[in-house]
Amino acid sequence: MVQQSSRLTYDPALIREQLDAIMVEAVPIHPFERPLDRQVLERLLPEYLAMSIAFPYLQAAAQRDLALHHIHAGMDFTEAEEITLVVGSFLVADETAVNSTLMASGPRGLPDILQTRRRFHSALLRQDIQRLLGEATDPRFSDDTKFYLHRLLDGLSSMDMVTRVATMVSFEAHAERMINGLWERLAEVFTVDRSELAYFHAHVGGDDPAEQYHVAMTGSMITRTLEVTDLPELCRAVVDAYHLHSDWCGAIAGIPAQQGASSL
Ligand SMILES: [Fe+2]
Ligand SMILES: [Fe+2]
Repeated sequence: MVQQSSRLTYDPALIREQLDAIMVEAVPIHPFERPLDRQVLERLLPEYLAMSIAFPYLQAAAQRDLALHHIHAGMDFTEAEEITLVVGSFLVADETAVNSTLMASGPRGLPDILQTRRRFHSALLRQDIQRLLGEATDPRFSDDTKFYLHRLLDGLSSMDMVTRVATMVSFEAHAERMINGLWERLAEVFTVDRSELAYFHAHVGGDDPAEQYHVAMTGSMITRTLEVTDLPELCRAVVDAYHLHSDWCGAIAGIPAQQGASSL
């Protein structure tokens, strides 16, 4: 990893490109890029739903320790901390459909954000799962999913800026790949028009999919929050976090970890 990170320069677009390459190198084949049979997908979907439901709560909770730290120390917040707050807040607003509602209806549409079971991204996913499985499904928080969500919160709320940024950057980059992979697998196994799967279409479908902008936004945080001397450590932390996300996908698909974060 030291060799890879030494290739980095401090140009935002180049850093993103190089980090993307490092993440793909770390996980050449994502668990959802392998064939998955119907039984595996049926078992996996309630776990995936659990993550989708929990994520906005975790991203919101990620500000808690930082806020208390500053309050107790009587210290101002830094600009870098504000940047991780605004990006995290955007992601929460996105998951809870505040952004799409306001873009569609303007401020007059604000009361519509209360329709959480129709509008949250997790609500779209619940509808897709019902369409696929023919019945409503509850989220399943297995030990693997509990472990992942705890570790994810640790990373998102880390007081160490490199870990905090690496977790956010890797989560969005991984989300794009994970959602694409799962959409492909579901379309292969279930007799469904893939464009009718609203959760997947909203993230990675259509002419102008939203997820690419999340990846770009979290990527542009890097040069606004970290020093050039942080970049080698950022590379290590991004790979570590990417394995965390990908290993969870492997665990819920019943595929052993390709390379655990502990081996780094
Ligand atoms: Fe989402
Ligand atoms: Fe996203």
